[in-house]
Amino acid sequence: MFGRVDFSKNMDEYLIKAFDKYTSIIDEWLDKILPEENEFPQTIHRAMRYSVFAGGKRLRPIFAIEAFNWVGGSGEKIFIPACAVELIHTYSLIHDDLPAMDDDDYRRKKLTCHKVFGEAIAILAGDSLSALAFEILAKTTDSKIIGEVARAIGTQGLVGGQVADIEMEGKPVDENDVKFIHEKKTAALFVASIKLGAMIGNGSSSEISSLTEYARNFGLAFQITDDILDIKGDQKKLGKDIGSDFELDKATYPRAIGLERSNEIAKRLIENAKKALPINKDNKLFLSLADFVLERTF
Ligand code: IPE
Ligand code: IPE
Ligand code: MG
Ligand code: MG
Ligand code: MG
Repeated sequence: MFGRVDFSKNMDEYLIKAFDKYTSIIDEWLDKILPEENEFPQTIHRAMRYSVFAGGKRLRPIFAIEAFNWVGGSGEKIFIPACAVELIHTYSLIHDDLPAMDDDDYRRKKLTCHKVFGEAIAILAGDSLSALAFEILAKTTDSKIIGEVARAIGTQGLVGGQVADIEMEGKPVDENDVKFIHEKKTAALFVASIKLGAMIGNGSSSEISSLTEYARNFGLAFQITDDILDIKGDQKKLGKDIGSDFELDKATYPRAIGLERSNEIAKRLIENAKKALPINKDNKLFLSLADFVLERTF
């Protein structure tokens, strides 16, 4: 029923199993949360479902669920909030692909939302995914967590990073500029996702700060490898347009400091992410996900 990422390539057995387990749970919850396609007004519900179920890696809800488990949380109360961060992420991708932004035709191995439903419906699908995310967060979490997520995606977070990303197109950039953009547009939502899980699981402040440090480094490395894949990736495996950053002269790590240094920095950040985790805990999934960032082809 759902489009799924094929996790079977170049990955260790443990990580394939973990991704399969988590993505199927997350997809079941997303299916319960999203309005049915035949519910009026049908077009917008079809567009929302089209993009959400096109087959994402579900990394941000996995962060939320794993953080919840890692701090000792139990039961099902993490699943709806975890879905909220995936809805927000999907909204950000739909808008990111619009002609006014990155103008891309493929996402998650399918045509982008605006290519199928038109720009107006794609904009509204993004808006409604974001609204739905906060509706379900309001039903399941407290105002502190909702504030944390809202801040992470507002003008001091994801949106702020996207503004800088657009405004720096074609301009000379240095490492500080791209670090700023990438921390805001990408790392901020990874950080909010992991904190949300840890807070819902009643994690201690030291657990929350370790996870925050992990996610900050992971998120920056993740966007650097995204920049690298835009140059060296295989469009078929990646499921989205490559060469898109080059075409728009985007502010990327490879453009600012070259491919080789970008690779070195991504490696160093992944080391830092792993080191941020205390040794007396079961960190297996977080460690494997960190390694995945450096090896990923999608
Ligand atoms: C893509 O994120 C956007 C970036 C922040 C680089 P993902 O690579 O996590 O996208 P999906 O959810 O798996 O499609
Ligand atoms: C996107 O960065 C970050 C978002 C907040 C969506 P990119 O523009 O590099 O992401 P892709 O390459 O289109 O997935
Ligand atoms: Mg972009
Ligand atoms: Mg883009
Ligand atoms: Mg990119």
